[in-house]
Amino acid sequence: MSDKTIPFGRPWIDDGDREAVLKVLEGPILAHGPQCKAFEQEFGQILGDEAHCVSVSSCTAALHLAYFHLGIGPGDEVIVPAQTHTATAHAVELVGAKPVFVDCELTTGNVTAEAIAAAITERTKALSVVHFLGIPCNMAAITDLARQRDLKVVEDCALAIGTRYQGRHAGLWGDMGCFSFYPVKHLTTGEGGMFVSRHPQVAASVSKQRAFGVDRSYAERTLPGMYDVVKLGFNYRMSDINAALGRHQLTKVPEILKRRRKNFEQLKSLLWKIENVVIIDSPGEEYENSYYCLSVVLQGALKPHRNAIATALKAMGVGTSIYYPQPVPRMKYYREKYGYRPEDYPNAAAISDGSIALPVGPHVSSDDIEFIARSLEKTIKETHT
Ligand SMILES: Cc1ncc(COP(=O)(O)O)c(C=O)c1O
Repeated sequence: MSDKTIPFGRPWIDDGDREAVLKVLEGPILAHGPQCKAFEQEFGQILGDEAHCVSVSSCTAALHLAYFHLGIGPGDEVIVPAQTHTATAHAVELVGAKPVFVDCELTTGNVTAEAIAAAITERTKALSVVHFLGIPCNMAAITDLARQRDLKVVEDCALAIGTRYQGRHAGLWGDMGCFSFYPVKHLTTGEGGMFVSRHPQVAASVSKQRAFGVDRSYAERTLPGMYDVVKLGFNYRMSDINAALGRHQLTKVPEILKRRRKNFEQLKSLLWKIENVVIIDSPGEEYENSYYCLSVVLQGALKPHRNAIATALKAMGVGTSIYYPQPVPRMKYYREKYGYRPEDYPNAAAISDGSIALPVGPHVSSDDIEFIARSLEKTIKETHT
C-alpha cells in the first residue's frame, strides 16, 4: 500500500462556498428564489450571449425535460451514442420513445454525423450527442445533418463546461444543452444541473415545466399561494442552497479549466510513447476540450489486463475511474429490452472494456501527475513481464 492518495475526483470547496451556503440558510428563502435566478444568469455568461438557462435538479432532469418539451413519445426514435452514461438513454426511455444506439470513434469517444445518418429512420425525431469526457463532437456536421433531416439536437454537456467547437460553447450548437453539477464534475452544487437553449421561448416553457407547469414563480405572485397551472410539469427545481454554492463555484471556473488543461497536457506528454496505449483526445484545435479526465485505452496484449492495472494503480494511491463501464445497449435493462449484438458497437466496447480514466482535476499537482505517469508505466511493465 502507498502513503499517497490521489482521488480520481474531489470537489473544490473553499470558505467562499461555505459562506455562500450558510448565508442562504440564514435567510427565509431556500428554494425557487433569487439565488437560482442569479445562478442562471451567471452560468449563461460563461457560455455566451445566446444562452438562456434554467436551473434544475440534475442533468438527467434537464435531459428528461428536453424530450418532454419536444413532445417526443411512444413510436418515436432518438439517436443516442452507445458510449455514454445511462442517463442519456434513460431520458429517451422516460418519455416512452426508443433510443437507437450508434457507435463512436475510438480516439475521441464521440459519434460522427456519418454514423448518425446511417441510423436515421422515418421515426427519428431527434439526435442526442454527448461531448465525451468534454471533447466536442463535430457540431457543424451534426447540425447540418439535423437541418437537412428536420431533426432536433439535444446536447448532453454533463462533462462539457469549457467545451467549445469552433469557438462556440457546447450546448449552444443544438436546440438544447444539458449540464451536470454532480460532485466530481467541473463545478458542483452537490446535485444539480442546467438546461440551456439558444431559443428564449424554449427556456421560458421548460422553466415552467420544471416547476409543475405553474404560470408564475414565487417572486411573481402578487398574493402568496395564488397561481394557475398552464402545462403539465415536474418538480425538477434546484434549491437556493445549491444555487448559492454553484454561483461561488462559477468564480473558480477559469482557474479550474486552466489547471485541468495543464495537468492533461503534462500527463499526455508523459504517456504518449507507451506502447499499446491510445489517449482519448481532441482531434484538432477547433475542438476545445474541457479536460474532464485523461482516459487511456489499452490495446493488444494490454487490454485483457485493464482491471488488474486499475487495481494495482489503486494500491499505489492513484484513483481511477471508467468512462463508461459498459456501452449502454449492453447494460441489462437495454440488452433485455432491445437485444444486443457486440459487433454493432466495437469502439464503444473497446473503450468500456479497455480504458482507464486518470485524474487531472484541480486537486492534482504537477508532482502528482508525474507520480501517476510513473505508476502507470511501472504497472504496465509488471503486467507485461
Ligand atoms: C454524459 C452524462 N450524461 C448525464 C449524466 C447524469 O448527470 P446527473 O448526475 O447530473 O443527472 C452523466 C453523469 O455522470 C454523464 O456523464
